[in-house]
Amino acid sequence: VQKIILDCDPGHDDAIAILLAAGNPDIELLGITTVAGNQTIEKVTRNALAVCAVAGITVPVARGASVPLVEPQMVAEDIHGETGLDGPYLPPPAFDLDARHAAQFIVDTVMAHEPHTVSIVPVGPFTNIALAMRLEPRIIERVQSVVVMGGAYTRGNATPGAEFNIYVDPEAAEAVFRADWDVTMVGLDLTHQALASAELQDRVRAVGGPISEFALAVWDFVGSTYKRQYEFDHPPIHDACCVAALIDPAVFTTATADVRVELRGEWTRGTTVVNFADTPGMHHSNGSALGQTDFRTHIAMRLDHERFSDLIVDSIARLTAV
Ligand code: BDR
Ligand code: CA
Repeated sequence: VQKIILDCDPGHDDAIAILLAAGNPDIELLGITTVAGNQTIEKVTRNALAVCAVAGITVPVARGASVPLVEPQMVAEDIHGETGLDGPYLPPPAFDLDARHAAQFIVDTVMAHEPHTVSIVPVGPFTNIALAMRLEPRIIERVQSVVVMGGAYTRGNATPGAEFNIYVDPEAAEAVFRADWDVTMVGLDLTHQALASAELQDRVRAVGGPISEFALAVWDFVGSTYKRQYEFDHPPIHDACCVAALIDPAVFTTATADVRVELRGEWTRGTTVVNFADTPGMHHSNGSALGQTDFRTHIAMRLDHERFSDLIVDSIARLTAV
């Protein structure tokens, strides 16, 4: 069983990631931490509690950063709506927030468990993770792995080059990629294969009950915004891919690469510059040589959509059966 902390900004695909983490027996969800991203910290925190109420989830929820490290706050209202989770009915919270800041919660939780047993899953801007790293640098060596949703090696969604989670807080992202821990980057190249297809939605509909209805309402709303903004036929379930990989590593293939976040480009700020290990002769853009140890980030490449769908359906069915 893999212990995880899910750091999120629900968010439609974040909500599905929560359901997957809470419903899958191979994951022990130690807590949910929230970060401003898709909407303000108040809204995404309320949404995290609402998802818990819908699905009967009772894990600690700790509120985190309301602004990025350097940039002013920005939200994704065009995709996730005014509440950050428009579409489904959002019930009132069934329990109180953890009193700690998310960064403190992450530090306490990682340090309270045996070394290399807890993985962190950041699926919003990486602000809380950067804060936690600085609050207690020993977490870097202590966590098992960090599986992030963010970045891309082909194209962005916030700008032509930059993916939203990185674009919102590029300094935090660079800190996370630069630290000496085991990072998997689940970028848009992978998550755009993880669509809530008609078949997947039919299978979830067949489960029936309020959690199934909730998931369908999530996809209905974000399906319409993805159609309008990006001309997608079905919405991507970005964030759930990270959780899925911790349940079943065969859900996607990976390649190793050196990842840097562009912090200064006029047109490219927030872009992940991904140098795959098959081009070791390269230098960094600042002229310094790349060493073998630079090629250490696992980049998610090809999704097995059927395995992924099976996990989503299974988790909703299990949560419904309780
Ligand atoms: C990421 O941005 C957010 O809108 C989604 O929840 C996901 O984490 C995709 O770029
Ligand atoms: Ca997210």
